[in-house]
Amino acid sequence: MASTQKPEEGPGEAEAPPNVSRPQLVLFQGVPMPDMFMEDWEDVENFPAHPSDIIIATYPKAGTTWVQEIVDAILQGGDVKKCLRAPLEDRIPFLEFKYHGQPRTALQQLLNTPPPRVIKTHLPFQLLPKSFLEQGCKILYCARNAKDLMVSYFHFDLMNQLQPDPGTWQEYFQRFLKGDVSYGLWHHHVRGWWDQKESHPILYLFYEDLKEDLKREVVKIARFLEKQFSDPVLDSIVHHTTFESMKANPMCNYSTIPTAVFNTRVSSFMRKGQVGNWKDHFTVAQDQAFEVDYQSKMKDTDLRFHTEL
Ligand code: A3P
Repeated sequence: MASTQKPEEGPGEAEAPPNVSRPQLVLFQGVPMPDMFMEDWEDVENFPAHPSDIIIATYPKAGTTWVQEIVDAILQGGDVKKCLRAPLEDRIPFLEFKYHGQPRTALQQLLNTPPPRVIKTHLPFQLLPKSFLEQGCKILYCARNAKDLMVSYFHFDLMNQLQPDPGTWQEYFQRFLKGDVSYGLWHHHVRGWWDQKESHPILYLFYEDLKEDLKREVVKIARFLEKQFSDPVLDSIVHHTTFESMKANPMCNYSTIPTAVFNTRVSSFMRKGQVGNWKDHFTVAQDQAFEVDYQSKMKDTDLRFHTEL
């Protein structure tokens, strides 16, 4: 007799969201943005920030998830069990996120949450809603070297059905250098935030620093958020936020996202978590082309990156 019981849904199979289709990029104030994020943009632009709100801003694939988990663990007083209360996207909503033609649920969730709120965004500095600056909100910006980031972004765009199709690696390489990807030129993004870090309460972090000495960086972030911890509590935050722990943690490894959105058969979200992985992907010719382009776009800044540890 055939069972009438529904097969149990595994992670990623539940609740396929409506209107999942790869976006077109639209130019907004010179920045290519996924078209669905720009629907009803005024709602984002007019977000009423509270002085206690905390922003985590990054160019995609720079270590957003990592900094989010660290910040949440810090704000939970180092009680990392409390970080298991909900998936990361519910604990720290993504400000500008939106499905095609659907309500802005992340923004709505933020509006329904009493401050202090922690908010994720990938917006370049000039597109951040002005109220966050007017209210003097604390902002953590995390940057990652462009070579590793490009490799990470390519794999992400392969698996994420809410990003334009990346094409081949060589095609993507060209597009990235032209800034023809969601959120535009990496160079403008990292420099835009770097240039503002003395004018606003911005803690500028580097993915490579987090890899080099996670405990040192957790202390730095805690200090910025006006928190202090004993050594054992710090150690538990560090343990909770290693690549291995986060990869195994369904509350921050995005395994709860339906496979119709994140096709983990193609690539996993927690992919490699390394500095220097670009060496397995860049050809010698690509590395040379990258360096020439990099020198011209980054020559007049004191912002420096490590591409290996
Ligand atoms: P890779 O694709 O190189 O593995 P974002 O959260 O901004 O989308 O960035 C995702 C990248 O950060 C992925 O890089 C992911 O593996 C890496 N990452 C996430 N958590 C990490 C951790 N705890 N340690 C090291 N890397 C981490």
